[in-house]
Amino acid sequence: MRFLCAIAVVSAFQSYVSALPIFGFGAGNGCLTKHTAYELVKNFIQLTNGDGFNETLANALIAEDVVDTSGSVASIINGGGVGPVPLLGPTLANRTQFISSNAAQARTPYKPLNIYWTCDVVTFRFEITFEPQPVLGITILETTPAPEGNEFPFIITQVYAELNAAAFLIDIGAKVTPPPPPPTK
Ligand SMILES: *[C@@H]1O[C@H](CO)[C@@H](O)[C@H](O)[C@H]1NC(C)=O
Ligand SMILES: *[C@@H]1O[C@H](CO)[C@@H](O)[C@H](O)[C@H]1NC(C)=O
Repeated sequence: MRFLCAIAVVSAFQSYVSALPIFGFGAGNGCLTKHTAYELVKNFIQLTNGDGFNETLANALIAEDVVDTSGSVASIINGGGVGPVPLLGPTLANRTQFISSNAAQARTPYKPLNIYWTCDVVTFRFEITFEPQPVLGITILETTPAPEGNEFPFIITQVYAELNAAAFLIDIGAKVTPPPPPPTK
């Protein structure tokens, strides 16, 4: 059982590290690490997949003045039209809107495919496992070190997310009439 023991030690160490203050070892001297970037993506997905929204988590992970910009989400909400949600954003203008929108969100199971990070930005590709058309998308999360005492070392200040809105609309029942093919010369 040495292997299990080692896992227990590693995970105890990881919880210890993630509890360290922002400029400590845990946050990589003020920068995101693989651990904090992956944790951020996992928690962000939990807040946005319409499955058991957690307001405490939202308050610990999302900055009060967050701005969420997504032309594709605006198009989906607008059912393919140009309003009422502006296509150039902001889609959600602050944490209050982020919470009310995501708390009411229909179940949208999705999983990360690749996760990339810099000192303060996390980008991830994702797949929404809808049918008949799977939906790919990309999310960019800008972060800043969290205020002292926050549960997580980084909070999200900007969200930019784009996804295959045509496939998504078809999956939720929209009827799309493709335009006629271009004239041949
Ligand atoms: C909600 O999130 C908070 C903060 O991360 C956590 O402590 C709590 O256990 C979560 N609640 C549920 C029901 O998952
Ligand atoms: C959040 O943004 C909406 C839309 O701009 C605005 O009406 C509302 O007052 C804002 N709420 C807070 C708490 O800033």
